[in-house]
Amino acid sequence: MGYHIVFIIGFTSCIYLLLILIYALYPYLRHSDLKKYINDDSFAMVTGSTDDIGKAVALELAKRGANIILHGRNEDKLHSVALEIKEQFPACRVVCINHDGTAVSDIDTAMVSHLNISILVNSVGVGPISPLAEFTDDKVFKTIRLNAMFPSQLTRKLLPQLNRQPSVILNVSSYAAIYPPPYLAVYAGTKAYNNAFSISLSRELENIEVISLITGSVNTGSNTKQITFMRPSAAVYAKYMLSVVGCGRKSIMPYWPHAIQQFLISLFPEKIVDFLTKKALKKELKPSA
Ligand SMILES: NC(=O)c1ccc[n+]([C@@H]2O[C@H](COP(=O)([O-])OP(=O)(O)OC[C@H]3O[C@@H](n4cnc5c(N)ncnc54)[C@H](OP(=O)(O)O)[C@@H]3O)[C@@H](O)[C@H]2O)c1
Repeated sequence: MGYHIVFIIGFTSCIYLLLILIYALYPYLRHSDLKKYINDDSFAMVTGSTDDIGKAVALELAKRGANIILHGRNEDKLHSVALEIKEQFPACRVVCINHDGTAVSDIDTAMVSHLNISILVNSVGVGPISPLAEFTDDKVFKTIRLNAMFPSQLTRKLLPQLNRQPSVILNVSSYAAIYPPPYLAVYAGTKAYNNAFSISLSRELENIEVISLITGSVNTGSNTKQITFMRPSAAVYAKYMLSVVGCGRKSIMPYWPHAIQQFLISLFPEKIVDFLTKKALKKELKPSA
């Protein structure tokens, strides 16, 4: 009798662990549903697309047949990314919106209001590293404005267009949203906002898929440490971002090595993780003037 009970508990635990493993691996093993959001007339809008992750996603979307709305704050850079896309994918229609996301004035989307936008990637974001006491009011305002206010207002503005057909919104959050590191308090706060905003919207909207992308380290202009397996290039990361479309998760780390890294870190005592994180981030602090 005792033997049977131990066997049943052991067997049930194994099945339970197997189901957890299948659930964890599923988003990374399936094919992306991105295709269902792309047709000849549909557009994908990517914010902060003049460089790095935003630019890489715009190029990847153009490669997969989407027409592109580029957003940035620098006319020359917008023009040069638009040219790059047109050279590589001549059939792609490209529209540019120049707007500084930190500005108090709202973004003007009138020039794209007639377009069928079925993909919105809220990528733009900055993460200045500094003790909070050394932040100016202006820096706090601009970081919150760009990372939180801007994507919220833009998403709200584009909802009627996104609602015209099945659509997807990808919100680029950060590992800082779930493990807020020191010296990044404002950034971590805004990235937690992106994550919560995204999850709430995914529960609210019927016709629009919404996914929060918990992003680990990616080699970009704002994170210039060298490319490694754990720190992919923006181009590689962009492919993983699009691979999770349709996976059914509200919030996910699209790059699976980041997910494994996060799992392993979660096994360590918080005090040790805090100590090592603080030591690493201290090295990145710029000496105060
Ligand atoms: N890289 C990482 O390791 C990492 C990790 C976690 C999360 N993320 C998130 O991933 C997203 C993209 O990061 P990234 O590293 O690719 O950023 P990035 O290298 O700093 O590029 C940001 C892009 O946004 C544009 N931009 C910056 N400020 C702007 C403003 N005020 N108005 C309009 N456009 C502006 C930049 O344009 P300019 O060229 O004109 O500056 C550039 O095109 C961010 O949300 C970030 O929080 C990145």
